[in-house]
Amino acid sequence: MPAPSRPDRPVGPDPAVTGHRPAAAQNGGVAAADYAAGSRSAAPGSQPQPSPTVGVTMDDQASSAVYVSRETDSRVSDDPPLAMEAMRAVQILNPSGEVTMPRPDHPRVMCVANQKGGVGKTTTTVNLAVALALHGNRVLVVDLDPQGNASTGLNVPHHTGVPDVYDCLIDGAPLAEVAQPVEGIPNLWCVPATIDLAGAEIELVSVVARESRLSRAITGHPDQFDYVFIDCPPSLGLLTVNALVAAQEVLIPIQCEYYALEGLNQLINNINLVKQHLNPALDVSTILLTMYDRRTRLADAVEQDVRNHFGDKVLQAVIPRNVRVSEAPSYGQSVMTYDPGSRGATSYFEAAQEIAERGVKEPVGRNA
Ligand SMILES: Nc1ncnc2c1ncn2[C@@H]1O[C@H](COP(=O)(O)OP(=O)(O)OP(=O)(O)O)[C@@H](O)[C@H]1O
Ligand SMILES: [Mg+2]
Repeated sequence: MPAPSRPDRPVGPDPAVTGHRPAAAQNGGVAAADYAAGSRSAAPGSQPQPSPTVGVTMDDQASSAVYVSRETDSRVSDDPPLAMEAMRAVQILNPSGEVTMPRPDHPRVMCVANQKGGVGKTTTTVNLAVALALHGNRVLVVDLDPQGNASTGLNVPHHTGVPDVYDCLIDGAPLAEVAQPVEGIPNLWCVPATIDLAGAEIELVSVVARESRLSRAITGHPDQFDYVFIDCPPSLGLLTVNALVAAQEVLIPIQCEYYALEGLNQLINNINLVKQHLNPALDVSTILLTMYDRRTRLADAVEQDVRNHFGDKVLQAVIPRNVRVSEAPSYGQSVMTYDPGSRGATSYFEAAQEIAERGVKEPVGRNA
């Protein structure tokens, strides 16, 4: 499938698209603000041009009126060269079905959680799910966020009246009744979230076994899927608790930016509470660094902090800040299908591969 043509309009307020820089960065300011800019010199509102060469030339720098020297020497283009891009696109779209990622011998239920908002939970859920499904795994995405972003990203209808995860949680509807196939991606299904879910947090309070409603719905279908990814809302309320009780593994996306580690203690404490009282099998198995901007020292510092703290739970693959990743949802697509040759798609592909390989390396109950 040829790579879709690139849109000619900027999408969203991503500074890499708009070229807007925080005031401190414009003043040649300090790291805490400077890291966020992400872009070299695009005029506000202009679209960054993909560079045909790797790296930034002296001419680029000289002609750039608002260029502020970056904090590290790494000046690599955001997108890989064309030939490599094409090769990666074929590998990622996998039209022949040749490239496979190992399937676990029992379903892996992974809760994608971080109560901090906007760290890449939904983006990670959608892209890992698509990557695994394109490479031979049967995958279910459960959208547990009333915002319904995962449903939007997978282009699954989620308007009022559509059977959704609320029906599972409150009315005990079987998962199979509410899961919808994702168009264009064989082996991928999604349980959408409609606006009804916004009331579920309160309604659940008076429901019997309120913390394990989702768990019951998922275990009712034990062998149908290789992976179940649960996209959590940015809170530690009953919806997230339901996800933690239903899962065996927690995947925490951490944004490579300032304040990234704040709030993590609270998340880990909550996970430990659920583990002690409701789900002893729960394990924080995977940490994924997202929105990494290689041009800043701050991103490196966050990466080092996270790796020192969490050791080999942190995936080697790191997701860069990449415009294609943020554009994809507005086309109802994952970046894997929207621009499979992009650095964002490649990184999510590598992350999915690592997750799949880790799944079969675990000593108990797995086969290679
Ligand atoms: N690697 C990336 N490069 C550029 N933009 C990204 C990247 N990952 C995510 N984004 C953008 O960042 C924003 C937040 O991402 P996302 O919605 O996945 O976070 P979230 O943790 O699910 O947010 P919430 O807490 O609101 O559910 C989105 O606009 C998304 O498109
Ligand atoms: Mg989200």
